[in-house]
Amino acid sequence: MTATMKAIIHTKYGTPDVLQLTEVAKPTPKAEDVLVKVVATAVNQADNHLLSGMMRFSSGLFKPKHRILGSDIAGHVEAVGQNVTQFQPGDAVFGDLSGHGRGGFAEYVAAPETAVAPKPANISFAQAAAVPMTAVTALQGLRDKGEIQAGQKVLINGASGGVGTFAVQIARALGAEVTAVVSTRKMDMVRSMGADHIIDYTQEDFTQTGEQYDLIFDTVGNRSVAEYKRTLKPKGRFVTTAFLPSLVIQGPWLSLTEGKKMDNLMAKPNQKDLDVMRNLLETNQVIPIIDRCYPLSDVPEALRYLEEGHAKGKAIIMMPDSSAGE
Ligand SMILES: NC(=O)c1ccc[n+]([C@@H]2O[C@H](COP(=O)([O-])OP(=O)(O)OC[C@H]3O[C@@H](n4cnc5c(N)ncnc54)[C@H](OP(=O)(O)O)[C@@H]3O)[C@@H](O)[C@H]2O)c1
Repeated sequence: MTATMKAIIHTKYGTPDVLQLTEVAKPTPKAEDVLVKVVATAVNQADNHLLSGMMRFSSGLFKPKHRILGSDIAGHVEAVGQNVTQFQPGDAVFGDLSGHGRGGFAEYVAAPETAVAPKPANISFAQAAAVPMTAVTALQGLRDKGEIQAGQKVLINGASGGVGTFAVQIARALGAEVTAVVSTRKMDMVRSMGADHIIDYTQEDFTQTGEQYDLIFDTVGNRSVAEYKRTLKPKGRFVTTAFLPSLVIQGPWLSLTEGKKMDNLMAKPNQKDLDVMRNLLETNQVIPIIDRCYPLSDVPEALRYLEEGHAKGKAIIMMPDSSAGE
């Protein structure tokens, strides 16, 4: 008899209403795969984009290629394929499966061993599930595209969401002087995360203060390229996770003519950066912020909440018997 597991699946594009909790076949790991018993997973804006069909050119033109969404996972290795060298059953791991068909909204998922890394020892599975996609995005934006340097003035626009809460803490850990742009009710949270300065966007427009920054890391994309540009120092850098189409043409031009580097970020999940994050987490330089936790059956509700756009850190999904993993 085929072993089964609980999973949230979608067989067509639509709103979170099209998602169903059902029993599906438990995956079998291929030679390079680990089979992970998921303890916690996180919802990401990418799950909403994929569910809606917005990315159908890559996710399946008429119907989804992969029925189970969910990129971020934290759990225990249950079994390993014959070529796996890094992990063995029982190991605690975390990872981002967005490059491998996802599948995190399920009790078990199989993925290449290179998609996961040892889970940080000092945090819960719920906290570990908060990390992979959003923290690695923040890390790559600040470090690789932003070329952040200690002592620089860095502004994070959208500092209170999944990506932003990690960006503030990573920028601080890398020695920057951080200004966080948030709404009134998030001010205490970003202050406790170590932000040096806070701008309440309901009261003040950061592009109108006259202040300029070495690096702007943006997760909202709510201002024009001209407004972001005038808020940058002469050789400043601007990186956004909220794709701005006009930057595709304007970015290289501004770099040539004005020396300001402005670009969209497309993060690339990888094991090395999970290791970098584990180090920052285990030394308590970064602490994942969890907004709320939902059971697996409430993935649709969690996605609706995320879609509203006002998360305070990460929304996490706990598996039915996740108490064993805490
Ligand atoms: N390119 C990539 O590789 C990549 C990777 C991950 C995510 N992303 C994208 O990055 C974006 C952010 O993702 P996320 O996971 O951080 O989203 P999120 O968790 O939903 O957070 C959004 C945050 O934006 C804040 N916000 C809304 N309006 C604002 C404004 N006018 N000024 C300042 N802050 C504002 C919200 O706080 P308030 O309640 O205070 O408004 C909320 O905390 C999404 O578009 C996502 O798709 C891209």
